[in-house]
Amino acid sequence: MELHILTVVPGLLDSPFNHSILKRAQDKGLLELKVHNIRDYSTDKHKSVDDYAFGGGAGMVMMIDPILRCLEHINKSATLDELIYMTPDGEKFNQKQANKLSTLKRLAILCGHYKGIDDRLRQHVVTKEISIGDYVLSGGELAAAVVVDSVIRLIPGVLNDETSALTDSFQDDLLAPPVYTRPADYNGWKVPDVLLSGHTKEIEKWRHEQSVQRTRERRPDLFKED
Ligand code: ADE
Repeated sequence: MELHILTVVPGLLDSPFNHSILKRAQDKGLLELKVHNIRDYSTDKHKSVDDYAFGGGAGMVMMIDPILRCLEHINKSATLDELIYMTPDGEKFNQKQANKLSTLKRLAILCGHYKGIDDRLRQHVVTKEISIGDYVLSGGELAAAVVVDSVIRLIPGVLNDETSALTDSFQDDLLAPPVYTRPADYNGWKVPDVLLSGHTKEIEKWRHEQSVQRTRERRPDLFKED
């Protein structure tokens, strides 16, 4: 996947994209990630990217021109499948959306700052708006990192054991079952016997039951989704 991130604070994304699974995806050539500093596309001498809001009020608004110029640069090689804008008033992100996005080839994510972007960009250029939850972050970067992490791990070959993404919580609208590792008895805290039994069928059945029970107790709303 080719993934472009448009931001005014590129440094915020250094760490999340240079470790663990996101780093491995890039090292394996499964993810081509480019972080673009929107400020580099400003044409005025102060390299401004924002301006006062028409109508007044506190907070600055990100201007159209630097963002469009950045997108023009990105689109020179090929067109994007989706341009996502990270915003608290977007569609609430979930595993289904992550699955869908993981099948795309060319994706761009625009991170908002200040009071957000000029709404005309949302009307004419953005193709999808995503929120990671009902709370407001200082900018879209950390939200974008959350979305990218959840999407990239689904690309075949990114995880060593591909089945581990398929057994994640939410993949069947069920939470994952509990997991245990050695020792089997930690000062009296015991691992359930069935997991030590070697009976694959029994273990699968137990895990499914645990998933259903956990989901019913913790997230009954998941049973009601389509
Ligand atoms: N930008 C600021 N808050 C956000 C949120 N909750 N989700 C996505 N982008 C955001």
